Amino acid sequence: MSLPAQSVRSPAHGRSALRDALAAAAEDTVVYDLDGIGRQYSALCSELPGALVRFAMKACPVDEVLGHLARLGSGFDAASPQEIAQALRTGVAPELIHYGNTVKSDRDIVRAHRLGVRDFATDSPQDVAAIAAHAPGARVFCRIATSGAGALWGLSRKFGCAPEDVPSVLGAARDAGLVPSGLSVHVGSQQMTAGAWAEAFDTLAASLEALNRRGIVPDRINLGGGLPALGVLDRRGRPLDPPLDGMFTVIRAGMERLRGLNAAPPAFLIEPGRHLVADHGAIRAHVARLTSRHRLDGTREDWLYLSCGKFNGLYEMDQLQYRLEFPTHPAGPFTDAVVAGPTCDSDDAYAPEGPVRVPRAISSGEPVWVHSCGAYAAAYATAGFNGFTPLPYTCVGGAAPVGGGA
Ligand SMILES: Cc1ncc(COP(=O)(O)O)c(C=O)c1O
Repeated sequence: MSLPAQSVRSPAHGRSALRDALAAAAEDTVVYDLDGIGRQYSALCSELPGALVRFAMKACPVDEVLGHLARLGSGFDAASPQEIAQALRTGVAPELIHYGNTVKSDRDIVRAHRLGVRDFATDSPQDVAAIAAHAPGARVFCRIATSGAGALWGLSRKFGCAPEDVPSVLGAARDAGLVPSGLSVHVGSQQMTAGAWAEAFDTLAASLEALNRRGIVPDRINLGGGLPALGVLDRRGRPLDPPLDGMFTVIRAGMERLRGLNAAPPAFLIEPGRHLVADHGAIRAHVARLTSRHRLDGTREDWLYLSCGKFNGLYEMDQLQYRLEFPTHPAGPFTDAVVAGPTCDSDDAYAPEGPVRVPRAISSGEPVWVHSCGAYAAAYATAGFNGFTPLPYTCVGGAAPVGGGA
């Protein structure tokens, strides 16, 4: 199957600071385009007026990226005391950081509280009791489970309680001297349907009504992450093409509905991870080798091995395809090959049913640009699996906006 090398909705065409940096790199590196990330942040703020952004820093815990977002006014969703400390180093006030992980030890809570964080996610009475003991008086928001349907990664099992548990979890928080301050959902990462948000708003509405009946009036609704990257391809190499405009329409309508339904209009938070950074990061990798061999069934298969893969930059390569560009061979001729990373591990490969069009004449050492891998790429790199250490990174752009930051 021959496939387009690039999606039209991505920033891969034409000249850009990102492409210039990829072209200038003589060695493998991850490049982040801070201005692109800034534009994405501003576009999101204009699409969802009234929603406060708390960047899910797990998607890209790179100091320069966090600093740039902080200057633009973003806060942070942190998953550990270590992330809280990193977020604070950007200079944001602790009030702009929440501890969004429902999984935390007593020690984690103590440390987060000492660092000044007062907003904690929760989903169980046990976690509520621990927060009350180690962060007395803190504000808690209850994460409600969603089905995760429609997402490439549904986060449904590990996080969130059933809607019917919400009143008892937040009731226990109130009884323990905490502030039952809010609700949160996450529709699943790389969510592909607007309907998932419609469902989440139905759940939020029903929970708000149940809480209001018990005299609990949350002041914040956290809409979580899940907004998609636009430039990645599915496992077969087809553009994913998520209905982003439809998602924003549903989210705006949902916010309006909840404002009218709660006893006092709540504030809204949103925790985008991949949507802000995925399409504004790319890797300059190189070709390890293009090979051709027969499979056991007698068919011939070409393989393109890259210098980076699942364990050093392309963690999500088993669920999707990153678009590849071969700057030294733009015009082919091409062959269809399975793309794989450099390790001795068979998971380190694109799905076999989605061969990629690669230049027949490409040789070991030639550059390959891997697009739309600014999210969960560097962050998931192993410390040295098979000896492959994490890639260095470079940031381009990011001059402080005129007039200063937040
Ligand atoms: C609590 C929380 N918020 C936000 C996110 C970001 O999700 P995404 O990258 O899909 O926007 C995650 C991702 O795992 C998360 O766990």
